[in-house]
Amino acid sequence: MVAATLQNDTFLRALQRQPVSYTPVWLMRQAGRYLAEYNQTRSRAGSFLGLAKNPDFATEVTIQPLERFPLDAAILFSDILMIPDAMGLGLEFVAGEGPRFAHPLRTEADVNKLAVPEMDELRYVFDAVSQIRQTLNGRVPLIGFAGSPWTVSCYMVEGQGSSDYRNIKTMLYAQPALLHRILEVTAQATLQYLNEQIRAGAQAVMLFDSWGGVLADGLYQQFSLAYIKQVCDGLLREYNGQKIPVIVFTKGGGLWLEDIVTSGCDAVGLDWTVNLAKARARINDSVALQGNLDPMSLFGTEESVRQEVRRVIDDFGPVGNGGHVFNLGHGISQFTNPEIVSVLVDEVHAYSQKMHK
Ligand code: CP3
Repeated sequence: MVAATLQNDTFLRALQRQPVSYTPVWLMRQAGRYLAEYNQTRSRAGSFLGLAKNPDFATEVTIQPLERFPLDAAILFSDILMIPDAMGLGLEFVAGEGPRFAHPLRTEADVNKLAVPEMDELRYVFDAVSQIRQTLNGRVPLIGFAGSPWTVSCYMVEGQGSSDYRNIKTMLYAQPALLHRILEVTAQATLQYLNEQIRAGAQAVMLFDSWGGVLADGLYQQFSLAYIKQVCDGLLREYNGQKIPVIVFTKGGGLWLEDIVTSGCDAVGLDWTVNLAKARARINDSVALQGNLDPMSLFGTEESVRQEVRRVIDDFGPVGNGGHVFNLGHGISQFTNPEIVSVLVDEVHAYSQKMHK
């Protein structure tokens, strides 16, 4: 297949800190339950996993937000938990309760059995990536993604979401070598998985380190960032003559921004606790920044949403040698009104044009 020419490369240019005429925008979890059409497709698929494991359905829901809003990137519809699912941990989504593993990793025997899965077990993901690329036909770039080894390991050890991370932190403090073994295998799997997404057509990749922020200073660097770096070091950074930018997002990681840059990523995702002007100054524009509107701000009024969008863009300031991709500071809430998302996207595009003159 000959790839169609990219009609809108604003997102890829901003990630590489090249000149753009406006700030590109996409939203974490842009395909999801706040869209009625997503819920319809999910009920046709029968379940979230039925949706994510079927490339036709995955393609359909990936495109849905782009049909509603003039977003500047598409993101593969999948989940960060597909790797441990392929490792045999038995992923289930219990309605209203989120993900759950039938076989969490708790003992040394559990960990000794853990291995990098055959990438063929994840073929449905790579098939979805190529099908989405074909369907996009050059409209906007496609982002591939994975969870960070630490964040994925949180689910593998806890067996589900957690409020205190007691099981994985017990392992971290009491049996650190065991946790390092899980992280090592997961990092190897993540690396192979993302490179396979790139070969299938992903034009940028993002690592979601949603729970890195629960770690103590010093331990974040050892148990999360070191493995993120291992993945970044092995990634295909250029494919078919195109640069493949890498975005690293540690939620709650603002204090570690200087450290995160040492992972070798092209862009850092930031949550709403960070001021973008101060962030740029701290790293001297050495990488692009992605973020960082509070997703809850979308429960304000049309006027307050426009004001908050302008505040984020003003905080970033004149683009100069930097690069800014507008996003939320975490995933969009399922209770968000899609009409307010139109307001957000419109304001980002309209207001940012003056920053790029
Ligand atoms: O951004 C996108 O539109 C792409 C799709 C995407 C999903 N999950 C789809 C999904 C992405 C990038 C993810 C990443 C993901 N998954 C993360 C990291 C990002 C973050 O939000 O911190 C995490 C921690 C997960 C694990 C996960 N998957 C949880 C905790 C849940 C339940 C969430 C909830 O709100 O109930 C999921 C399920 C999931 N993944 C949904 C979607 C659209 C909702 C499932 C449904 O339709 O019922």
